[in-house]
Amino acid sequence: MDRLKDKNIVIGVTGSIAAYKIATLCSSLKKRGANITVIMTKNALNFVNPITYETLTGTKCLVDTFDRNFQFNVEHVSLAKLADVFLIAPASADIIAKAAHGIADDMLTTTLLACDCPKLVAPAMNTRMYKNPITQDNIKTLVKYGFEIINPANGYLACGDTGDGKMAEPEELMERIEDALTVKDLQGKKVLVTAGPTQEKIDPVRYITNHSSGKMGYAIATEARRRGAEVTLVSGVVSLKAPYGVSYVPIVSAEDMANAVISRSNEQDVIIMAAAVADYKPAVTYDEKVKKSDDDMSIQLSRTQDILGTIGQNKKEGLYLCGFAMETENLIENAKAKLKKKNLDMIVANSIKTEGAGFGTDTNVVTLITPDSETQLELMSKSDVANVILDEIIK
Ligand code: CTP
Repeated sequence: MDRLKDKNIVIGVTGSIAAYKIATLCSSLKKRGANITVIMTKNALNFVNPITYETLTGTKCLVDTFDRNFQFNVEHVSLAKLADVFLIAPASADIIAKAAHGIADDMLTTTLLACDCPKLVAPAMNTRMYKNPITQDNIKTLVKYGFEIINPANGYLACGDTGDGKMAEPEELMERIEDALTVKDLQGKKVLVTAGPTQEKIDPVRYITNHSSGKMGYAIATEARRRGAEVTLVSGVVSLKAPYGVSYVPIVSAEDMANAVISRSNEQDVIIMAAAVADYKPAVTYDEKVKKSDDDMSIQLSRTQDILGTIGQNKKEGLYLCGFAMETENLIENAKAKLKKKNLDMIVANSIKTEGAGFGTDTNVVTLITPDSETQLELMSKSDVANVILDEIIK
């Protein structure tokens, strides 16, 4: 179930060139099924025509408090009551000052003041205005009143200066909105997730690996973080972007992964090994490229360390240990054997032969197996699978 579906998101747009980026945000939110209302200040009208947002959201843009031609009429309060999240982006120095001091002199500021949902502010302005102690004090005041600040990036600004003041990208705004809508039931928990394949070196140009895309592990890390956990993601080489807000540890080989995971294992409350770790590596590796000959060749392989097995055997009190089993036959039987052998609290079993499951897809079909339960889930997105796994862990 998409957290953004049918949620009421109010976006306040103020006078800044970054207003054009809100078109992308509106489009992304709409695709996820959110109801979006954009309120523009008069200055914002100099940068973007309200028709742009209206076309993307399907809802009339609100500008003037005394405009009678919209469904909320004088009642800015009814919109404020409806809002699940209120985002001001781009937020000029002016709106930050007004919001910090309770000034309510237009549609945006009156609605904002009447609102008690989570409020997010994404500043966008010239770096000198941003760094001005007055603006910084106003931002601190907003934080004191429970606003969340989405820090601007450092970069080349439209005014020609370079520095802090560039509004966060729509992708980050999206993540922060979703974050504000997520129940923090993993707050205070430390969760380590592994993802992706490992690469086992043969020589400087060749390695042994597998088809893991990392999508399942990345989805778990993302959802655990959204639910409030402090997440460490130990990832093999994949083509995915590191999820927002996680502590990211890139690794290459099974040995790297073992070092990264085992050295951090004592601090964790939960460890979820979604990575497809190589069970074998070349017994000998070469520093120079191996030249071919006319003969066949073979590569001697030696075992890698079983990371999950090692942690399971010395499992500390209170640690929840979860593994994955990808099988092509005898799914449940093989998975149950791994659960027992590695001393796990849960194993997530999937068959690579099931349609919509396995490597590279955005969906999965899994069975959650614990020492006393077996739950077969239907086909669902990897994000939904991630949430069901996390639900089971905190049950
Ligand atoms: N795993 C691990 N260390 C390894 C290999 C696997 O921690 N060296 C973890 C995986 O991340 C996964 C689980 O163990 O969570 C998979 O168990 P495993 O017995 O290794 O499964 P396969 O690699 O599929 O092995 P098999 O060929 O025996 O099915």
